[in-house]
Amino acid sequence: MKQDYGALIKQAEQAKAGAYAPYSRFRVGAALLCRDGRVYTGANVENASYSVTCCAERVALFKAVTDGAREFTAIAVTSDGKGPTYPCGVCRQALIEFSRDMDVICTGARKECDIKKITELLPCAFTAAEL
Ligand code: THU
Repeated sequence: MKQDYGALIKQAEQAKAGAYAPYSRFRVGAALLCRDGRVYTGANVENASYSVTCCAERVALFKAVTDGAREFTAIAVTSDGKGPTYPCGVCRQALIEFSRDMDVICTGARKECDIKKITELLPCAFTAAEL
């Protein structure tokens, strides 16, 4: 590991307990690290109208952004799944808006860990530079 993300992973695991996932029963937790050291956590929030569901990563991101944070260095993601959990495409796009250099730490219930840059997960992203 380039850096010790153990504490961030632990925060993601704790955040998972806050998931509202009665439909999929697949709980996800995320912990987003700001450049200034603040950490914002989130868990998935589902809805009877399935498409309304918000992923853990975007819950954490939107909490951070609405609190004034704009620069992020890393996000840890964990779930009840066997393998490491990677952010969905929508969350990748939401995250890359703010930081192109972010580490994405993907973990799962069996503690496996894969670290990718957000640009690896979303190459050729559409960004404000295109506008
Ligand atoms: N989910 C997340 O919260 N983050 C991901 O990266 C993948 C999927 C949630 C959405 C839904 O509540 C459940 O996992 C099953 O798709």
